[in-house]
Amino acid sequence: MNIQLHRFYGLIKFMDKTRYDLFVERYPEFLETLELDDLRKRDYTRLEKTGQVYLDYTGGGLYAESQVKTHQSMLLEGVFGNPHSTNPSSLHATELVESARDAVMTFFRADPNEYVVIFTSNASGALKLVGESYPFAKNSRYLLTFDNHNSVNGIREYALAKGASVTYIPVMPPFMRVDESKLPGYLDGLDGGNNLFAYPAQSNFSAVQHPLEWIELAHQKGWDVLLDAAAFSPSNRLDLSLYKPDFVPISFYKMFGYPTGVGALIARRKALTKLQRPWFAGGTITVASVQAEKHYLAEAPMAFEDGTLDYLNIPAVEIGLKHLESIGMEKIHQRVLCLTGWLIQNLLEVKHPNGTPLVRFYGPLDTEKRGGALAMNFVDEAGRVVDHRWIEERANTVDVSLRTGCFCNPGAGELALGISSSELTSCFNQPVHEQRLTYNEFRLCIDGKASGAVRVSVGLVSTFDDVEAFIRFAQSLVK
Ligand SMILES: Cc1ncc(COP(=O)(O)O)c(C=O)c1O
Repeated sequence: MNIQLHRFYGLIKFMDKTRYDLFVERYPEFLETLELDDLRKRDYTRLEKTGQVYLDYTGGGLYAESQVKTHQSMLLEGVFGNPHSTNPSSLHATELVESARDAVMTFFRADPNEYVVIFTSNASGALKLVGESYPFAKNSRYLLTFDNHNSVNGIREYALAKGASVTYIPVMPPFMRVDESKLPGYLDGLDGGNNLFAYPAQSNFSAVQHPLEWIELAHQKGWDVLLDAAAFSPSNRLDLSLYKPDFVPISFYKMFGYPTGVGALIARRKALTKLQRPWFAGGTITVASVQAEKHYLAEAPMAFEDGTLDYLNIPAVEIGLKHLESIGMEKIHQRVLCLTGWLIQNLLEVKHPNGTPLVRFYGPLDTEKRGGALAMNFVDEAGRVVDHRWIEERANTVDVSLRTGCFCNPGAGELALGISSSELTSCFNQPVHEQRLTYNEFRLCIDGKASGAVRVSVGLVSTFDDVEAFIRFAQSLVK
């Protein structure tokens, strides 16, 4: 065949290709995850039936219908009493709760001699347990990244109340990573005492995955480490036999959608011995006396589980973990990254007629050390940011579920959106804002600057069609 004919056939072949062909050509590893498309057709039938495009996996995962059915049969067939007793129905509940506890340990490859799982109502509940009991004192430091969920930021109130100092490590726009050369400087110079360093394994704003190697570095310099794994654990393997953070909060609904209302603090036994619980409650003590005004805390995990555990829902955690294991975290991770890469590449190509790109990303533009969420704003032809609330309204009309705002991560938001510390201070110091500040008042304060962003996130059963729907949605905004 002569070269021109070859080129001609090459062109025809190219024109014949569907977007899906181009996608798998770019991400051939996606083909190894196709069983998830089948799983979705079989076990997440409501997505097809309702036509919903779900792009908020960082907000909450989706459950398989089989998880609910397995749990429902368990409830319909068994008799479960309040644990903490020795009657048969109570023992039955205890057995299932302890089995779920073991399943969490196994899933995270945690050594039972080293770690313990404390059930909480969500990741925030786990963080509060640490915050309220960590022995902060005047010579303590609480060090955390700007990029943190508010439930990690909130621990600073406990630290400050006990006279500890609080330091934030900035992340740098536009890619939203920490300047690692500066990290040792933040970690050095401890003055004895108890010191806590907190960061997310994956940002719920930018999806940056901050290095797990920081854990060992911080330990060597005398810190306890709180690794927030709430956004990381739904599509990444956290292996606690390799990395040894002291405190790991998670929410199970983020990992597999069902049940809601159950989370855990996975904690190192050694670090737990430091914690000083501010109170005791039903279930947390061995003995408490009214007349002697004395109580003795039980061993962990009991000492940290206040009152009656959610003993009917906790068994569903084991069902969810089995579901994830049957797929494999590595496969989920792979799929999520392929879809994320495709989204980035295609959204960057959407431009206004005058050539202005439609989307401004806050976070990495590649798939290295990141998860499956994209924070962005849409801009008009003149480069002005379009109100994220309007984008959400438009997305709602085409049944696309995305999230807007600051995603409870104000630090990353402030840095990404260029809201300065002086602007914030002057806003918060206005006498009318002493007690109260609404969202609209806040927007006015920062002079109409973008106060939030749009986040789309993919997960376990996201498909090529889902991300294509979002790309089409973006394209529709420039026409
Ligand atoms: C990184 C991160 N940490 C903590 C939380 C708090 O989780 P929950 O609201 O389930 O307590 C979230 C929730 O979005 C999160 O993304």
